[in-house]
Amino acid sequence: MTHTVPTRPGLRWALAAGTVGAVAAGAWWFGDKAPYPYAQRRLLDLQLPGLTPAGLNAVLRPGPGERILEIGPGTGLQSLHIAPQLGPDGRLDVLDIQPEMLDHVMRRAERKGLTNITPTLSDARELPFPDGAFDAMYLVTALGEIPEPERVLTEAVRVLAPDGRLVVGEFFDRHWIPFGTLHRLADASGLHLAARRGSTLAYLARFRPCSAVARTGPLRFTPGCRA
Ligand SMILES: C[S@@+](CC[C@H](N)C(=O)[O-])C[C@H]1O[C@@H](n2cnc3c(N)ncnc32)[C@H](O)[C@@H]1O
Repeated sequence: MTHTVPTRPGLRWALAAGTVGAVAAGAWWFGDKAPYPYAQRRLLDLQLPGLTPAGLNAVLRPGPGERILEIGPGTGLQSLHIAPQLGPDGRLDVLDIQPEMLDHVMRRAERKGLTNITPTLSDARELPFPDGAFDAMYLVTALGEIPEPERVLTEAVRVLAPDGRLVVGEFFDRHWIPFGTLHRLADASGLHLAARRGSTLAYLARFRPCSAVARTGPLRFTPGCRA
């Protein structure tokens, strides 16, 4: 009677191929920085735990008459919530690298009768706005998707008013930035942590430019601000 036993070289090849496949999949999963595909837009309408509208309000504190910049609005889940709070004298600028996303936001805004949203097609690493133009800026599950997020933070410091606010929301998906990493990047960019809600897996954090903190309070958590 004969038995068929997998040969050792065959087994080794199978293991090697499996390992290479797993490493390649992992590298793609964590390294891919392509913008979120518009074809999967329906998923963007799902409310992520920890990143609720009430949570965003509490950390961003939008007010009537303010000019606020949103980076990476996707289909407008946050835009349609924030814009009405700015009132007719305020303005929400939404900036995205994909025209389909901006068109989607503007169609939804029109259906809701919102007239204070202005779209800008651009890369967040080079913001086409003058210095000090905004009272606040926010990104929800967008910063981790942008290559060189530190450039976005540097641009935030430039386009924010000296006492402006930057809010970053992140969630544990494949582009997630752990809170500790964001805090280090922000510190190196001249931003001071002012408030945080949630865990490192799903959080909203508010930062302020060091220039604002130097005038109004102690520089407790940001060594970069003390320099
Ligand atoms: C995952 S979606 C988040 C959408 C929305 N904030 C939400 O929470 O539903 C990320 C958004 O960032 C945009 N984005 C990616 N890279 C960008 C870049 N370099 N500059 C500007 N926007 C970018 C994408 O086009 C997309 O709209």
